[in-house]
Amino acid sequence: MCGIVGYVGSDRSAQEVLIDGLRRLEYRGYDSAGVAIFDGKQLAVRRAVGKLVNLDTALREEPLAGSVGIGHTRWATHGKPSEANAHPHRAGSVAVVHNGIVENYQALRDALKAEGREILSDTDTEVIAHLIDQRVEAGSDLLTAVREATAKLVGSYALGVVSTADPDSVVVAKNGGSPIILGVGQGESFLASDIPAILPYTREMIFLEDAEFAVLSREGVQVVDAQGHLVEREPKRIAWDPVSAEKGGFDHFMQKEIFEQPRAIRDTIGTRVGDDLEIDLDGIDLSPDKVKKIERVVLVACGTAYYASLIGKYLIEQIAGIPAEVDLASEYRYRRPIIDQNCLMVPVSQSGETADTLAALREGKERGAWVLSVCNTRESTIARESHDVLYTRAGPEIGVASTKCFTTQFVALYLLALKLGISRKTLSGEKLEAAIDELRRLPRIVEETLQLDDQIKAVAQRYFRATNFLFLGRGVMYPVALEGALKLKEISYIHAEGYAAGEMKHGPIALIDENMPVVVMANQGSVYEKVMSNLDQVRARDGQVIAIASVGDDAIDAKADAVIRIPELGDYLTALIATIPVQLLAYHIATLKGTDVDQPRNLAKSVTVE
Ligand code: AGP
Repeated sequence: MCGIVGYVGSDRSAQEVLIDGLRRLEYRGYDSAGVAIFDGKQLAVRRAVGKLVNLDTALREEPLAGSVGIGHTRWATHGKPSEANAHPHRAGSVAVVHNGIVENYQALRDALKAEGREILSDTDTEVIAHLIDQRVEAGSDLLTAVREATAKLVGSYALGVVSTADPDSVVVAKNGGSPIILGVGQGESFLASDIPAILPYTREMIFLEDAEFAVLSREGVQVVDAQGHLVEREPKRIAWDPVSAEKGGFDHFMQKEIFEQPRAIRDTIGTRVGDDLEIDLDGIDLSPDKVKKIERVVLVACGTAYYASLIGKYLIEQIAGIPAEVDLASEYRYRRPIIDQNCLMVPVSQSGETADTLAALREGKERGAWVLSVCNTRESTIARESHDVLYTRAGPEIGVASTKCFTTQFVALYLLALKLGISRKTLSGEKLEAAIDELRRLPRIVEETLQLDDQIKAVAQRYFRATNFLFLGRGVMYPVALEGALKLKEISYIHAEGYAAGEMKHGPIALIDENMPVVVMANQGSVYEKVMSNLDQVRARDGQVIAIASVGDDAIDAKADAVIRIPELGDYLTALIATIPVQLLAYHIATLKGTDVDQPRNLAKSVTVE
């Protein structure tokens, strides 16, 4: 996610405040950086590709005087990482930094060009700068110009704006996008997309809400609503220390990322699902003519992404009626696979740099397959080598153990399955409407499920000394069992195995005794009775049963030693909901064991070697 910093003051160098603030946001991941500073006479913009040190070096060589400015670290969404695409973007008297995605930027860009405006970058942000500059040229003050310009935007934005037309202010706008925090100082004001950036200067913070604007000046911070009416909002005092502030007040990045899944899921759905029940996957051509040529879908991935791909198989086969196979990328690349131009290959990867997945992609592409990747990292190697990319919008995932990327991969594959089903007419209008309704309700249901955190922590306290765990699931819950086992073993170092519940009697049942906690995905669904008999088999051998069950299922108390009840959300998305408790269970067990949750031993965030 992009980093935003802004400053208006008198005693401090804007350059120092901006660079220092951006440095505190580096953990979020980025590919370029820039600042725009008003020195009393002109607005200077300086940008550099790569790490912040490149920008800092350039500024130390040619410092910018001035005490009003904005800064940005960019996580590429539109256009590759380059100086031309780095923020701030400038148009006339205006410079803008932005986080978010403007869905209608292409139409706006075309209109600006038709009006004779020269567009220099590939970004949606530059379009915003021109729209604001047009309003300033028409005589609006900067705040009004920003309100008038943003009224034309569809999508999410968090903006910082400066202009020579209003040299003593920074104007801010928010609608979705990243958080916007306004720092209130003595004779100075601050802007940041995350608290750590400005915590050294002030602890008095105002949190801007969606559809709100603000004007930062030396006199303070003024917040207005979409109609320009003043909004009274008292600053909050932030008591966090700088280190915990980077984690948003959470103890670990993994914990923060588990709790930001509602936002990540909401962003991944975005405006891809229309009110007309149409699904538009960023313009990827999945028309009936194109889709009818697909004889088979081949998903390839590693680790958590592989488990998300297993879910993708259920979704694509059951919703779109296309045969789907899933391969471990590390195996796929060596098994001389049968694949051709009639196949749709779907590599799934958070980092977009996993060596095995990239090799599998190249194998399939070489044999003529259409490659449509599900990826979280713009301009990554896998993204660049794919014919099409369906991006998850989870933002950078810092914790090595993947959480929000699993659930957003799930959502992306669900959207793909629905789109394929629409094109192949395998999805009735009623079923499509129900599926879209469930997707719309999903972020709130995930928020509700996250409230089970204390209950799950209590379960962790009962079982964190165990040395082995078994996770059982059937159907679309089977990959969730596999993912739950992976989360536990990779962060707590406890041996854990995920198994298809029906397979237990074919061997693993020999492991069951009073020392073996068994997590069973026991939500009510078509295989509920079968899962209940699995529970009985475990209990009959004194196994400890931790049941992930459905709200309203009281009968299960007699069959389990611990029950975590979650809300249902249809045949498929209930599996995504069930992922939340297994993520939290692994997290709490690991913290009780005192392991390094964010950087577990031996693990790397992106496995770029074989
Ligand atoms: C998951 O928690 C692990 N960190 C690991 O299995 C990861 O999912 C795997 O390495 C794939 O990474 P990718 O999604 O970046 O390709």
